Amino acid sequence: MNEIVSVLFLVMFVSDSDAKLTKPNCGYFLGCICSRTSPENPITEALYTHENSTFVSSYLSYTHNKRYSNPNNTNLIAIIAAKHESHVQATVVCAKSYGIQIRIRSGGHDFEGVSYNSYVPFVILDMHNLRSITVDVANKKAWVQTGATLGDLNTKIAEASKTLAFAGGFWSTLGVGGHISGGGYGNMIRKYGISVDHVNDAQLVDSSGKILNRVSMGEDLFWAIRGGDGASFGVILAWNINLVEIPETLTVFKVNKTLEQGVTDVLYKWQLVSSKLPEELFLRAAPQTTDGAKSGEKTIAVNFYAQFLGSAEILMAIINNNLPELGLKREDCYEMSWLNTTMFWMNYPVGTPTRVLLNRTSGPPRAFYKCKSDYVKKPIPKEGMEKIWKTMLKFNNAFMEWNPYGGVMDLIPANATAFPHRKGNLFKILYAASWTDANATNANLGLMKELYDVAEPYVSSNPREAFLNYRDIDIGSSPNGETNCEEAKICGSKYFLGNLKRLMEIKTKYDPDNFFKYEQSIPLVHAM
Ligand SMILES: Cc1cc2nc3c(=O)[nH]c(=O)nc-3n(C[C@H](O)[C@H](O)[C@H](O)COP(=O)(O)OP(=O)(O)OC[C@H]3O[C@@H](n4cnc5c(N)ncnc54)[C@H](O)[C@@H]3O)c2cc1C
Ligand SMILES: *[C@@H]1O[C@H](CO)[C@@H](O)[C@H](O)[C@H]1NC(C)=O
Ligand SMILES: *[C@@H]1O[C@H](CO)[C@@H](O)[C@H](O)[C@H]1NC(C)=O
Ligand SMILES: *[C@@H]1O[C@H](CO)[C@@H](O)[C@H](O)[C@H]1NC(C)=O
Ligand SMILES: *[C@@H]1O[C@H](CO)[C@@H](O)[C@H](O)[C@H]1NC(C)=O
Ligand SMILES: *[C@@H]1O[C@H](CO)[C@@H](O)[C@H](O)[C@H]1NC(C)=O
Ligand SMILES: *[C@@H]1O[C@H](CO)[C@@H](O)[C@H](O)[C@H]1NC(C)=O
Ligand SMILES: *[C@@H]1O[C@H](CO)[C@@H](O)[C@H](O)[C@H]1NC(C)=O
Repeated sequence: MNEIVSVLFLVMFVSDSDAKLTKPNCGYFLGCICSRTSPENPITEALYTHENSTFVSSYLSYTHNKRYSNPNNTNLIAIIAAKHESHVQATVVCAKSYGIQIRIRSGGHDFEGVSYNSYVPFVILDMHNLRSITVDVANKKAWVQTGATLGDLNTKIAEASKTLAFAGGFWSTLGVGGHISGGGYGNMIRKYGISVDHVNDAQLVDSSGKILNRVSMGEDLFWAIRGGDGASFGVILAWNINLVEIPETLTVFKVNKTLEQGVTDVLYKWQLVSSKLPEELFLRAAPQTTDGAKSGEKTIAVNFYAQFLGSAEILMAIINNNLPELGLKREDCYEMSWLNTTMFWMNYPVGTPTRVLLNRTSGPPRAFYKCKSDYVKKPIPKEGMEKIWKTMLKFNNAFMEWNPYGGVMDLIPANATAFPHRKGNLFKILYAASWTDANATNANLGLMKELYDVAEPYVSSNPREAFLNYRDIDIGSSPNGETNCEEAKICGSKYFLGNLKRLMEIKTKYDPDNFFKYEQSIPLVHAM
């Protein structure tokens, strides 16, 4: 214990001398969290400062966008990789007392890096050590701590039952903390809705450091954390989720066509049918830049990915009746378990061992990227599609996902949870560009703006809606550790539509000091 105390004093001393201006009270902060945790659950085991040799690797483990990944950020005081709930509570209480911002990180996939980067002094509260999962097959429920990944969760459920699943995303490294609170969706969205439609209960540390559950937090706060941005309201420790029924065998396929193969016509027809197909079928279209037939030439290929809760035979019949233009062949279809479909969607070759889903650092090498989103309510005319392709071809590496809506999404009211984008959408667009050379950043950001402008006439307007889980800092943000309400209301109205007002009221009631704040957090009412 003496050793620990002297180390903390050393940290206080070092950080005091070089950083009076930029790191207010950071030494006292570390002393505070130490004093508020017990020797049985020592926080030193969870604490990384710049002095620890493992600090950088701990930072980098969960920083997915190289644009924001900077372990040398002098505002970053410490990483607290909580091993016990009391570590989370101490971090909240002490950061609040000493005026330090926290950034909550589960899987670290935030598109704009808000979970691991800040322009004011901050600590990262990293949840990855808190990741236990218990599945209750009889009641079709599970408790999952927020540091678990979707790969952990989907594997645990599959081990317990072949016919139950969680109706969220499939990308195995996504954190359950960010993914669920942002209204995460997956390829059962048309049949079962989204992650927040299947949350029964939650454990949350509020701005005073108390641990609340659904009953003690009340229905307002419980509503807000389901799609209304968890990080504006507290630290979610765990979710209790409902599991949905799935067949033991599902069918998937992936086929592509290029512009030269007439894909614009196929995709136009896709726009007319994809939201009206049987809700057991989710058929994503993913346009992307790719090499053309001649060397040095580029073209657009659209990959069509299907997930069908049924057999290949029935899937073939549905496609042949509704979208024969796709030219689907029986040999394109693979029947497999739900867990195996998650690997198929991540582009692992069929037969890849499922243990890859538990690898928290798997996936493509880290790159620089920029994403944006849109909701589409009427088909994009072919001229519009041509303009989009023309702009995409200016990128080295750009891709889009057109994710069909319809099914139950048309039936769930926009205010049932804080996630508002429900009825009346044909599909949701993800725009993405990625690059590996830091020097290409400005060019790619410029092209992304251009692509977003080109698409404007064809997508939702007043407001132009955006998906919180596809965070886009350009649509309004407060850059300096304050909350600029005008900016916050602009981005809030795009992410939350008519639910913003209630979210602001709940924010004001449960976090009146605006402790849980960051570039796009929900503003307080009185600050209007
Ligand atoms: C490769 C890839 C694939 C994706 N696929 C999908 C998809 O299929 N469907 C989909 O919906 N989205 C998808 N996304 C987006 C993804 O759901 C979001 O980026 C999500 O926020 C990631 O959660 P995380 O915990 O990994 O991220 P983090 O960066 O850790 O967190 C994201 C946000 O949530 C907050 N947060 C994290 N944990 C907590 C917590 N415990 N309590 C309170 N706030 C918390 C953070 O502070 C931050 O604001 C994808 C993203 C990537 C990079
Ligand atoms: C970081 O270093 C301090 C001082 O040596 C030590 O007490 C602490 O346990 C280290 N943290 C981790 C996670 O190893
Ligand atoms: C951080 O600083 C170290 C040492 O100065 C340097 O080697 C490293 O490249 C820097 N990392 C980043 C991301 O700037
Ligand atoms: C399209 O499909 C072909 C054949 O299945 C494959 O070789 C090619 O890599 C795919 N192209 C893209 C862009 O996915
Ligand atoms: C799932 O994939 C594994 C390879 O990891 C394979 O052995 C197994 O047969 C597949 N199961 C099903 C039902 O698709
Ligand atoms: C996890 O995946 C990464 C990236 O593919 C790889 O480098 C690493 O070896 C894998 N880890 C394990 C334990 O398999
Ligand atoms: C949702 O909106 C409907 C109709 O607009 C209203 O009747 C209902 O009270 C609202 N529900 C909540 C929880 O606000
Ligand atoms: C990036 O730009 C810097 C400075 O402009 C230059 O020194 C460096 O060589 C460039 N890197 C690449 C990979 O082009």
